[in-house]
Amino acid sequence: MITKCLFPVAGYGTRFLPATKSMPKEMLPIVNKPLVQYGVEEAIEAGMNTCAMVTGRGKRAIADHFDINFELEHQIAGSGKEVYLESIRNVLDNGIFTMVRQREMKGLGHAILTGQSLVGNDPFGVILSDDLCINDGPGVLSQMAELYKQFRCSIVAIQEVPKDEVNKYGVIAGEPLKDGIYRVDEMVEKPDPADAPSNLAIIGRYILTPDIFDIIRDTPPGANGEVQLTDALQTQAKQGCVMAYKFKGRRFDCGSVPGFVEATNYVYENIYSKG
Ligand code: UTP
Repeated sequence: MITKCLFPVAGYGTRFLPATKSMPKEMLPIVNKPLVQYGVEEAIEAGMNTCAMVTGRGKRAIADHFDINFELEHQIAGSGKEVYLESIRNVLDNGIFTMVRQREMKGLGHAILTGQSLVGNDPFGVILSDDLCINDGPGVLSQMAELYKQFRCSIVAIQEVPKDEVNKYGVIAGEPLKDGIYRVDEMVEKPDPADAPSNLAIIGRYILTPDIFDIIRDTPPGANGEVQLTDALQTQAKQGCVMAYKFKGRRFDCGSVPGFVEATNYVYENIYSKG
């Protein structure tokens, strides 16, 4: 059973400036709940109660969010407003939160490596909370944890995207096995659409085996001069096995303004308004 989930939340969120100048992108709310809380709820649902956050400068609000605010608790105790604290109290009752700071933002691969001290030598989940995943049945990370029991290797979540958008993603090619499961042969970060091996894009959910840390250590900076997780996964796929899984559910790219607005409308109409 996988019990830990890593949350790389150290990025600058430049696409949301000026909102993210002094506030973490992961605290931007979709309706009334911060993005990172949706991610934490998904991890806890998957049995990954230890939520390990890789934070950075200017991200203290995330640590505060996953802690008690005594003054607020005292102020509204016994009043009708307590209901508004229910979801975060639930998260605090069920989750354990650990933090480490990434001092230089050298890319997602580097952020994952920074989290090694928090996750140790066990397989772990990864959630990029700017990808919001919503579905009726088990969450995406639960679906992947179930698959892990079968394959015991790293798994990336994928979805089909329009060919002209592949340059925003890591893209895989692989052998289809069954039910949207592929054994990965090739992975490329942000390929030119003309050279992309497919339109199967990696989204922000992973299960990683701990040998990934040594591989990342040996991975030179790639696209954008950053240490890319995709490059390390490509090595892992060549050395052993990486699976890709076309998950069930909807995903919103909340790291971009249009995706964020789309998610807000969807959650308001389909979840918030229905209580
Ligand atoms: P993104 O590139 O989407 O996030 O990284 P960003 O850099 O915050 O956003 P923009 O492009 O400037 O608008 C994907 C995820 O990896 C994390 C980010 O926080 C985000 O969740 N990340 C990225 C880190 O934690 N550290 C890094 O050095 C880079």
